[in-house]
Amino acid sequence: MPVADLLQELESLLGKIDSWNHQYYVLDHPTVPDAEYDRSMQRLVELETQNPHWLRPDSPSQRVGGQPLAQFGQVTHDVPMLSLDNAFNDQDMQDFNRRSLDRLADVTGPLEFACEPKLDGIAVSLLYRGGVLQRGATRGDGATGEDITQNVRTIRSIPLSLRGKGYPEMLEVRGEIYMPKAGFERLNNRARERGEKTFVNPRNAAAGSLRQLDPRITAERPLEMCCYSVGLVKGGSLPDQQARVLERLQDWGFRINSESAVVQGIEACNDYYESLSARRDSLPYDIDGIVFKVNEFQLQEQLGFVSRAPRWAIARKFPAQEEVTRLLDVEFQVGRTGVITPVARLEPVFVGGVTVSNATLHNRDEVDRLDVRIGDTVIVRRAGDVIPQVVSVVIEYRLPHFRRVIFPEHCPVCQSAVEREEGEAALRCMGGLICAAQQKAAIKHFASRRALNVEGLGDKLVEQLVDEGLVSNVAELYTLSKERLLKLDRMGEKSADNILAALQDSKRTTLPRFIFALGIREVGEATALSLARHFGSWPALLASSERQLLDVDDVGPIVADHLRQFFDSLSSLEMVRSLCDAGVGWPDIECAPERDQPLAGQTWVVTGKLETLGRDDAKAYLQTLGAKVAGTVSVKTTCVVAGPGAGSKLAKAEALGIDVVDEESLLALLVAQGIQL
Ligand code: IVH
Repeated sequence: MPVADLLQELESLLGKIDSWNHQYYVLDHPTVPDAEYDRSMQRLVELETQNPHWLRPDSPSQRVGGQPLAQFGQVTHDVPMLSLDNAFNDQDMQDFNRRSLDRLADVTGPLEFACEPKLDGIAVSLLYRGGVLQRGATRGDGATGEDITQNVRTIRSIPLSLRGKGYPEMLEVRGEIYMPKAGFERLNNRARERGEKTFVNPRNAAAGSLRQLDPRITAERPLEMCCYSVGLVKGGSLPDQQARVLERLQDWGFRINSESAVVQGIEACNDYYESLSARRDSLPYDIDGIVFKVNEFQLQEQLGFVSRAPRWAIARKFPAQEEVTRLLDVEFQVGRTGVITPVARLEPVFVGGVTVSNATLHNRDEVDRLDVRIGDTVIVRRAGDVIPQVVSVVIEYRLPHFRRVIFPEHCPVCQSAVEREEGEAALRCMGGLICAAQQKAAIKHFASRRALNVEGLGDKLVEQLVDEGLVSNVAELYTLSKERLLKLDRMGEKSADNILAALQDSKRTTLPRFIFALGIREVGEATALSLARHFGSWPALLASSERQLLDVDDVGPIVADHLRQFFDSLSSLEMVRSLCDAGVGWPDIECAPERDQPLAGQTWVVTGKLETLGRDDAKAYLQTLGAKVAGTVSVKTTCVVAGPGAGSKLAKAEALGIDVVDEESLLALLVAQGIQL
């Protein structure tokens, strides 16, 4: 090919890839299939390798990282990088508003504020000269930071050269580099698989990734940058309001936070805080508060600075999600299938908005990983509705006499032997249904809302029934009499009548609910539904061979094995018979032949909060109908189910013109397909 044509091809590839990167990493709006992107990138690298003199420093191929450094250089910030004052409640916000208004004699009405999520990452400065990235630096102590140019160049949401026109000759852009939650999970999972150390949280992961002397390591880390202000500006000018500056930065190719908003008055700031606070856990990145900035630069100038923070801005912090406390003891809980879980008893601590005195330690591997001792000072994390976790130990506070955690050799409830099955992290009590803890858990599961739904038979009552020896398995629930119930502490006539009536009501059920209620290992609601639809009746399911079980969607060798074990166990079959003798029953359902998979060949994505179904069940039901359920939205997605709090996936779907439905429509679809919810 003539050189001129090759050069033209190179130009065109550079332009295309740069624009695809911008759409993907900055706008969250992919426009080409991955294969097309990969092909173009390969071709670009090929052209650049064959013609090294054509290689430009701002080529998208140069994001992979150059040679490792011996140490980072120092950078002096021309305009110091300040920090922010904090507010912790509405009163602090009122005070901030009053202080500001008192200093602004000319302002009569409410102040206008720019509201921005406070990303929990690392503050950085990017210097562009003539629109080309010259230097990236950390904040450091605000006056001097470290030169991390090589590392920031690998971050794809940072433009190597600015888009559009009209940018100042010298422009310093500031913002936060952070690791989105999904990337953090992936990184840690990979580290776990390789037996390497994991990061405690996305912030530490971002800091650790940025502090690498070898930029090739940084290049492999899922980092993003979001801009929130400018520093040095020379040879050009910018708009006169904070929010407008951000819009301009977006035009020049930077990522800005899509949750940012402009509001009038401090009350509206508080409303913004409340509403984002409610959605905090569904955002794809960690935030630790909201930053409120007086929007007009002219007013900002009048307000000025105190020591190291501006008077025109404040950071309203969320209650901390991590706190330090002491591990008082470790106890062992026995679950429905006998799994023994170590539970940390903690000195009560206020974290994530509630007082926490217990946290799960998961299993022996986790206790080994933490290397935790009783008496240790530990960091506890409680984020949203997730159960509290011990994330790490503060080793400096350990004293020599702190005891190691000893795992029991016998079940703490029934004294049966404890075993660890091959390939499993969990220890298990082998007592089966003679273990009172397993009895209680099995009965709680059986009576729960999604199983036989025995109203009024709550956890406390189940524990009483087992402890008093009135019931030891689910079938015995149906032998309870009013007389016996009345013997229980605090049980009145009316409650006893209600429970008996609820038990009576629970007898008419459905086959999927019944299968689920039995509590067979690994058989959740969705698998129960698949089994019911596949076999249609209990006798047909019971008579199924392992091969036939494996034909069912959702059923792999492990689930098939648990099912066969259940069907081969005399005591399980006796229990089912007793339940049926007591009057528990269901209509057989029509088998769904394989072709009855109306969503076969489709790919769905579920995002946001689903109030009725929950995301896991929604996914399972969709799979039952033949759909593939994916974690990310792409051009191949058929439909997105979006609940409240849906963020970037919803935005991406809308940008790509993919169908979006809400939970109500999904429920209607499931019902129309004969799924009994
Ligand atoms: S403005 C003078 N805006 O919070 C203004 N900071 O304690 C200084 N941060 O070091 C910063 N999101 O790392 C600003 N939208 C935002 C921010 C933000 C996160 C961080 C930043 C800074 C710290 C201030």
